[in-house]
Amino acid sequence: MMLGKFILGMSWMLPEQASTYAPEVDNLYLFLVGTTIFFTVLISAAILYFFVKFRRRSESEVPRPVAGSMVLETAWTVIPFFISIGMFAWGAKIYLDQYTIPNDAQDIYVVAKQWMWKFQHPEGQREINELHIPVGKKIRFVMATEDVIHSFYIPAFRIKEDVVPGPNRYSTVWAEATMTGTFHIFCAEYCGTSHSGMIGWVTVMDDKDYQAWLSGGAAQGSMAERGANLFQQFGCITCHKSDGSGQCPKLEGKYGTMETLQGGEKVLIDDSYIRESILSPLAKIVAGYQPIMPSFQGQASEEQLQMLIAYIKSIGPAAAAAPGAGGGSSKISPPGMNPAAQRPPIMSTGGASMIAPVGQPAQPVQAPPQSQK
Ligand code: CUA
Repeated sequence: MMLGKFILGMSWMLPEQASTYAPEVDNLYLFLVGTTIFFTVLISAAILYFFVKFRRRSESEVPRPVAGSMVLETAWTVIPFFISIGMFAWGAKIYLDQYTIPNDAQDIYVVAKQWMWKFQHPEGQREINELHIPVGKKIRFVMATEDVIHSFYIPAFRIKEDVVPGPNRYSTVWAEATMTGTFHIFCAEYCGTSHSGMIGWVTVMDDKDYQAWLSGGAAQGSMAERGANLFQQFGCITCHKSDGSGQCPKLEGKYGTMETLQGGEKVLIDDSYIRESILSPLAKIVAGYQPIMPSFQGQASEEQLQMLIAYIKSIGPAAAAAPGAGGGSSKISPPGMNPAAQRPPIMSTGGASMIAPVGQPAQPVQAPPQSQK
C-alpha cells in the first residue's frame, strides 16, 4: 500500500491522515484512481495495438467479417458491473459511517457567518476561527449559518459538510482525530467576497492538555447554564413549566425522545426540532397543545439558540433520571447537566444565575473577527 501510494504520488499530494476516516477515504480514493488508470491504460493500449494489427495492408484487401463473442461481451459487462457495484458499496459504507452520529460523541457547536467560523464548547468556551479538540474522542459538530451557505471543511480529517440556512435543520457531521497537531479549517462553498479568507485552525490536543485548556474559560458558565438564563430572559419559563402545569409542553426529560404531534405524526426531539420549534413554532405542534407560541426569529442569535438547546439537552432524560435533578421543582436550577463532571456549582439568584468563579482567569478566546468589516 505504501508502495502504491508512492508510485501514484499520493502520499505527498494528500493532506495528513489525522482522523479515523482519513485512511478509509484515502484507500477508496486510491482504488478509484487506480481503477481509472488501469482501464485508461488498458483501453488506450488496446486501441494502439489494434491500429497496427488490423491496419489495411493492401489496396485490394477485404477484411474478414467478425462475428460476436459471447464470452468477451459477457466478461466486459459482468466484470465492470461488479467493480462499479463494489465502488458504490464501499463509498456507501464510508458515507454511512460519516453521517451516523455515534451516541457517545461530544458536541461542538458551530456557527458559520460571512466570513468566520464561531465555535462553542458545551463547557462554555467560545472561539473564532480557532478550535481546540481532544485527540481520540468522537466529536459531533452541530452547525448552523447566520447568512448564506457555507461548507465546513477539514481536509486532514476528510470531512466536509455544507451548512445550510433555514429554521428546521442543523447540519451535523462527526470526526475522531487520531493525532495531535494543528490542521486547516476551510470554507468549501463560495459565500461572497472574503470566502477565501474564511479559514481557521483546529488544534488537536491530548486529553490532559485539553482539560487544562477547557478549565480556562469555565468562569463564563457552560452553554447549558447560559441557556438556562436565556430560558428565563426570553420568558420560555412562563409557559414551559417544569411541573407540566404551563400552557406549553414541559421540556424536562424530553431531549432525544419521540413526541406525538397534532395529527398523530411522531417526531424525534433533537437539536433540529428544537431549533425549528423556537424559530417556527407553528410548524410542528405537539398533540394536545394550542399554537400560541411566538417566533423568536431575529431575537435569539444562532449562539443563543445553541445555548437554549444545550440547556434543554441538559434537562433531558439522562439528567432527569439522576437523583435530585429535575423532578417536580418549578425553579430552573440545572444541577445535573449531562456532561457535568468538572462544572462549577451554579447559584440561582432570581433572574440571573451566578457562576462560582474557578481558579484560572477567564480565557474567552473571542479573538477580534479578522475579516469582518
Ligand atoms: Cu463561507 Cu465560503
